[in-house]
Amino acid sequence: MMKLMSIVGARPQFIKLAPFLQAVADHNRTGSPRLEHLTVHTGQHYDADMSDIFFEELEIPPAEINLGVGSGSHGLQTGKMLAGIEQVLLQEKPDLLVIFGDTNSTLAGALAAAKLQIPIAHVEAGLRSFNRRMPEEINRIAADHLSDILLAPTATAVENLRREGLADKTTLTGDIMYDTVRRNIRLAASKSTLLRQLQLTPHAYYLATVHRAENTDDPQKLLAILNELNKIAAHQYPVVFPIHPRTTNRIKMSLPDWAPHPQLRIIPPVGYLDMLQLTQGARLAFTDSGGLQKEAFFLNCPCVTLREETEWVETVAAKGNVITGADPKKIEQAFLHWEHQLGDGRVDFSESVRQHFGNGQTAKQVLHTILNFQNTLSV
Ligand code: UD1
Ligand code: UDP
Repeated sequence: MMKLMSIVGARPQFIKLAPFLQAVADHNRTGSPRLEHLTVHTGQHYDADMSDIFFEELEIPPAEINLGVGSGSHGLQTGKMLAGIEQVLLQEKPDLLVIFGDTNSTLAGALAAAKLQIPIAHVEAGLRSFNRRMPEEINRIAADHLSDILLAPTATAVENLRREGLADKTTLTGDIMYDTVRRNIRLAASKSTLLRQLQLTPHAYYLATVHRAENTDDPQKLLAILNELNKIAAHQYPVVFPIHPRTTNRIKMSLPDWAPHPQLRIIPPVGYLDMLQLTQGARLAFTDSGGLQKEAFFLNCPCVTLREETEWVETVAAKGNVITGADPKKIEQAFLHWEHQLGDGRVDFSESVRQHFGNGQTAKQVLHTILNFQNTLSV
């Protein structure tokens, strides 16, 4: 019996964990050695619509351990997680720790396991924005250099790791979020009623999400983005904006007088199936989310990225994504560019998706790489 442990804590990590757990369950039906798996939820995200809903919809068994860390400054939050994860690792003694993405939960997992000499597999390794002002960039670099198995979603990620001297530990696996999209897209179509509830017609609305610290914590940038979304909503089609709690808080705190245009429809965070449905039907997505940039691409929805750079450069090269930062002129230009290009038609990125993001079987490849690594350890 081999014992695996996964650390998750933030919304996108639940979405990445789901196919991995499915791969573990599939393996246990036929393969050996039998795998035991424990999920540790740090509690970084804790509201029902930021956490529980993903476990329910994606049929992720409840986390065996929840550290209940909650929100706080980077040091405080990461420190509490580090102490909590260390205790769990000492108690449970897993053979290997799996970490996902680039959040504070990822970093804490990596630090705790590395100090205890527990091997670490990093899913979504090798992404770089080359902007160290982003907390995620610090988390990724540290996590990659502390990990033993680097599971890179794209060829660009492989190349980034090679440049940092980590080629020996790296495997190209494809993108695990693509697995989740493929598995749930039909379910989303049959279960989600959100478009009907909001009285939205497919391809006659835009989708927006904003939550990155670089945008939310700079009142000028936040205002520029919000005003631009107001302008876009005033054109022809409404903008649907499922809002991250961080952004709600920042608007209340820094921009108490700002008001949305009636066609800028701000709604609470939505579940994964509603989000897939919203993305598939949107004319365009305006976002600073890493996950949504990819999902938009997978679902043939053009994207305007409200950041200065992206880790998902393939989406830009394939002309599915335009980088604008929070610059109103650039956002407006990108919007007009897409509207001109779309007309009444649609775009199709599927060939590029297949070429750059794997075949939707990434979780299986991730598990396979982990098991191979364990085999080489035991000989
Ligand atoms: C975190 C990740 C970010 C990721 C995002 C996904 C870090 C450094 N950042 O950012 O990379 O893109 O998750 O969504 O790990 N809050 C609530 N309820 C919740 C969770 C958060 O109200 O359930 C509010 C709190 O005011 C909190 C703020 O949101 O202070 C920020 O939460 P936090 O987890 O620190 O960072 P995110 O912005 O969510
Ligand atoms: N998401 C969701 N509901 C929302 C907003 C986002 O289910 O209201 C999903 C989205 O589809 C993607 C993931 O959450 O799969 C991305 O998370 P987020 O944007 O919070 O973080 P990032 O990917 O930028 O780290």
